[in-house]
Amino acid sequence: MDTGKDWDMDRDIAEIIVSEAELRARVSELGEGIGRDYEGKEPVLVSVLKGAVYFLADLSRAVSIPHALDFLAISSYGPGAGSVGVARIVKDLDLDIGGRHVLVVEDIIDTGLTLRYLLRHLEARQPASLEVCTLLDRPSRRIAALPLRYVGFEVPDAFLVGYGLDFRERYRNLPYIGMLKDRVLRR
Ligand code: IMP
Ligand code: MG
Repeated sequence: MDTGKDWDMDRDIAEIIVSEAELRARVSELGEGIGRDYEGKEPVLVSVLKGAVYFLADLSRAVSIPHALDFLAISSYGPGAGSVGVARIVKDLDLDIGGRHVLVVEDIIDTGLTLRYLLRHLEARQPASLEVCTLLDRPSRRIAALPLRYVGFEVPDAFLVGYGLDFRERYRNLPYIGMLKDRVLRR
C-alpha cells in the first residue's frame, strides 16, 4: 500500500506483539508496585542506554514516590541484530550508589549475558539492594539465570522493535512492540 509517506515503519511490522494500550496499562501497574515496594527507600532507577530509555521515562512517571534516575551505556553487540555476549561499559553512572536501593530498568532480557555483566559491575559498589525491572523477558533464550523482580511481558523468540527497541537504530519510536518482517531483517 502506498501511504504517501517517505518512510512508513508500520509497513515493516509483521505482527504487533504488545499494543500501545497494553504497554500503558502494564507500565502503570509496574510503577504502582515499585512505589509500594520501595516506600521510604528513595531508590535509584538505573537504566541502560539506549533501548530502555523509553520504558524508563514512562515508568518513572508511574512511580509516585521520590526516586533518582541514572544511566549507563554498555557496548555489547554490533549495529545489527543478535547478541554475542561480550560487554564493556562505555558510559558509567554519575551517582554514587553505595548504600542506595538500586533498581535496574531494562528493555528486554534475552540471553541475560548483558544483565549478568551489569549486575556484577553494580554489585561491586555495594548498593543496599539490587533488583531488576524488565519490560520484556524472553526466557527461551536465557543462558545466564537471573532473578527478575518485575517483568512486564514474556515474549516469543522473534526479533522485536519499537518502544525503544531498535534494528540498526531504527524503529525505536514506534509506540508499540512489533515483530519485524523477515524481509527487513535480511535487508
Ligand atoms: P542479552 O544480553 O542477550 O540478554 O541481550 C539484551 C539486549 O539485546 C537488550 O537490552 C537489547 O538491547 C538487545 N536485544 C535483545 N533482543 C532484542 C530484540 O528482539 N530486539 C531488539 N534488541 C534486542
Ligand atoms: Mg539494551
